[in-house]
Amino acid sequence: MLGKFITLEGPEGSGKSTQAKEMIHRLAEVDVEAIYTREPGGTALGEAIRNILQHDAAGEAPCERAELLLFEASRNQLMEKVIRPALDQGRWVICDRFIDSTTAYQGFARGLPIEEVQAVNRFTINNVMPDLTLLLDVEIETGFERIAQRFLKCNESADRFELEERSFHERVRQGYLKLAKEEPDRFRIVDASQEPETVSREIWSILKQDFLKS
Ligand SMILES: Nc1ncnc2c1ncn2[C@@H]1O[C@H](COP(=O)(O)OP(=O)(O)O)[C@@H](O)[C@H]1O
Ligand SMILES: [Mg+2]
Repeated sequence: MLGKFITLEGPEGSGKSTQAKEMIHRLAEVDVEAIYTREPGGTALGEAIRNILQHDAAGEAPCERAELLLFEASRNQLMEKVIRPALDQGRWVICDRFIDSTTAYQGFARGLPIEEVQAVNRFTINNVMPDLTLLLDVEIETGFERIAQRFLKCNESADRFELEERSFHERVRQGYLKLAKEEPDRFRIVDASQEPETVSREIWSILKQDFLKS
């Protein structure tokens, strides 16, 4: 693996997609080629699964474990078709949500057994762990206020997860924080309540410190 694999995690509206794009941009300025991928999705099969998961495109909501396995199917396709080949070729991969989303949402928030969820995650990624996971931490309320703004601007509608009750999202947030505490070498927690430019600067200084020393 020549490239670096960086994942962005955090509650809805924490700024993952915004910061992922900013990272790609800044890396390009220092001649590091990085690709953006998102979960679920990022491949033709993955995008079809995304549609099922987020908008009940199959006509019925998946049961809890079916939901988990659909996420994992999308993830494995993304790993083998996109992430692993890119890293092998020396490109960096910036992934908007990854394994920790599954542990936080299907494990901590839905209530599936955490260790079993993590075991399925390990099976799916087949030995390619993120080098760094940025946890964009923000209060649930703040994230939702931002998303409401986005809906007004883009005429988008809420997906199945965004419609979950507040306590669900609170469990997601606390789950993420617990994961970060358990794996301090992989995770960095970033205060995502700050202005986007401040968050970007903080992320950039982490990247410089960890990976761009030379
Ligand atoms: N730090 C920030 N402060 C205020 N608004 C932000 C910030 N980061 C992102 N936003 C805005 O909030 C909305 C959600 O951001 P987004 O990057 O899509 O979050 P996520 O991908 O984590 O759900 C977007 O409209 C975005 O422009
Ligand atoms: Mg996003």
